[in-house]
Amino acid sequence: MRKDSPLRTITVALVLSLVCSIAVATASVVLKPRQEKNAELFMQRQILKVAGLLEEGKPIEELFQQVEARIVELDTGGYAADMDPATYDQRAAAKDAVMSQPISGEEDIAKIKRRANYAPVYLVRREGEPNLLILPMHGYGLWSTMYAFLALAEDGRTIKGITFYEQAETAGLGTEIENPRWQEQWKGKLARDKGGQVRFELIKGGVSADDPDAQYHVDGLAGATLTADGVTNMVRYWLGKQGFGPYLARLGEGGAQR
Ligand SMILES: Cc1cc2nc3c(=O)[nH]c(=O)nc-3n(C[C@H](O)[C@H](O)[C@H](O)COP(=O)(O)O)c2cc1C
Repeated sequence: MRKDSPLRTITVALVLSLVCSIAVATASVVLKPRQEKNAELFMQRQILKVAGLLEEGKPIEELFQQVEARIVELDTGGYAADMDPATYDQRAAAKDAVMSQPISGEEDIAKIKRRANYAPVYLVRREGEPNLLILPMHGYGLWSTMYAFLALAEDGRTIKGITFYEQAETAGLGTEIENPRWQEQWKGKLARDKGGQVRFELIKGGVSADDPDAQYHVDGLAGATLTADGVTNMVRYWLGKQGFGPYLARLGEGGAQR
């Protein structure tokens, strides 16, 4: 075949693209388990972080053994014994017509459109009893869906921590929700009152000393009130009756549920 023949050019192009596609496909298949493992470790790290159990230098998997993952059926608030928290994907379930339900306009305060029927929860026990509950939540801010874990004490009311691990708000404005100094203020605040009503709110301009509801309030974010409102609505939705409300009520009653 002549060096400059069209057939030769086409053959070289075809062989090259075949070799490249085999290389890319192989890399994708070979690296997939590692990517999945890294994604799992990332989530475990976030859960340990919000639980205050992260110890630098110690393997995440070892630390995560203190955490018990369960799947909750949100409507009833009971544990789904037949579902494996290691494989359940709440995000994928929320897109599946059978595994999720649409949320009506006025109830959709977190602006998520659909809610999966099941959600994972993470428990840290002390002497067998739940001592810390870590609840995943998500809601729309100004530009993006914000994903978080909220840690509550065993009373189901006292906030022990918050962490946001995925969001795309504006750097320097909405992304301040990731600021650890701001997140620090959440600790010790109450998310719900004794009757189970969700009272938590981010307050525009900051919590004043004479605020009678200061225990439920955290400073908002200057210049990012829309993101802050999204965070308030996210917490209210997920601790409310469509979210973990029924679960928290059952947990408070004690018994086999715990
Ligand atoms: C380019 C641009 C990006 C913005 N990004 C955000 C944001 O991520 N979150 C937010 O709440 N407000 C953002 N804002 C501001 C909002 O439009 C709105 O002014 C603000 O949330 C009101 O908060 P304030 O009352 O505390 O000033 C942005 C504004 C501009 C012009």
